[in-house]
Amino acid sequence: MTLTQDIRQRRKVEHVQAVQALGDPASVSSGFECVELVPCAVPEVAWDDVSLATEICGVRLESPIIINAMTGGADEVYDINRRLAQVARRFGLAMALGSASAGLASPEVAYTYRVVREIHEDGIVIANVGMGTRLERARQAVELVGANLLQVHFNAAQELFMAEGDRDFRGALEALAEVAHGVGVPVVAKEVGQGISAEDATRFADAGVRAIDVGGLGGTNFIAVEAWRRGVEIDEFWSRWGLRTAAAVCEVQAAAGHRVDVIASGGIRTALDVAKAMALGARAVGIAGPLVRMATQADGEAQLNRFMEELHFGLRALLVLTGCRNFSELRGKPVVILGWLREWLEARGLA
Ligand code: FNR
Repeated sequence: MTLTQDIRQRRKVEHVQAVQALGDPASVSSGFECVELVPCAVPEVAWDDVSLATEICGVRLESPIIINAMTGGADEVYDINRRLAQVARRFGLAMALGSASAGLASPEVAYTYRVVREIHEDGIVIANVGMGTRLERARQAVELVGANLLQVHFNAAQELFMAEGDRDFRGALEALAEVAHGVGVPVVAKEVGQGISAEDATRFADAGVRAIDVGGLGGTNFIAVEAWRRGVEIDEFWSRWGLRTAAAVCEVQAAAGHRVDVIASGGIRTALDVAKAMALGARAVGIAGPLVRMATQADGEAQLNRFMEELHFGLRALLVLTGCRNFSELRGKPVVILGWLREWLEARGLA
């Protein structure tokens, strides 16, 4: 094994350890406290008529919950992917894999990715590569797991805080366009916790992506994760750097919602967060950190199942209680935006 391969595999394990050690940020919200749904006292909806189905990039999803990109590429994370794939299969969820780079560089760990396709045989599986990845590499990532979609993550802040990270981000948009036009499956551009703005959404849509996962601030923070790996703590400023998820959903929806599907992620934790994101226009949501924390517990399978049961029950209940049978009806309902988010959107000319 080369030194780079070793660093890459160790990094996979350290990311899981960091996310376990850090938990969610206590003082930085994802912004959904500024978003309110209007309750409906006369729903005229039957529980059994409610559908949680949605669609991204022309692909039907039985549930709006996506298990977002996390891991693969080291023996130690095999069990995490196995457990996540089992819960994805059980609840009919799309599941994204962690960046394919370690699996493509070291074929002996490819099995830690492939297990997801083996278990989630007929499900929606999403491959993941980093910004700047060229077409040939992207094709290999898709082939590795027979992916239905490909995520390309944009993580400049993470790279800068990573001792061994990239320092030159030129050419990433051009590479994205090449991948989006040539890879043969729909491409999703995503952030990993610092959010995507209206301006960036337009650039991504112009590059030909079919969806944007906003990866906003308020959940797992990769600036903190990389600082943890180096044994340092970040200060207040860096813990708040980025665009909060609710703001990012509004920005991307306003700028590019007519051209791409918006996926909300970054601190999505409850059914209410999901319903609010969907009411703002998202077509699906991604959840990562809490799922890996559950998957690494001794009773991880039971915890994941209970969490998903509750989340789906809560979502169904919220659709009924806003008088909706599905998410497209929810998108037509009024949403009240308050506080700093309202001011932010006004200041940005997006209100
Ligand atoms: C991630 N995330 C991530 N994203 C990505 O595009 N490629 C990757 O390889 C990884 N790796 C990874 C490892 C671990 C352990 C976690 C928890 C997360 C980021 C993830 O997909 C998501 O964008 C952020 O974690 C924000 O969502 P949550 O965690 O706040 O729900």
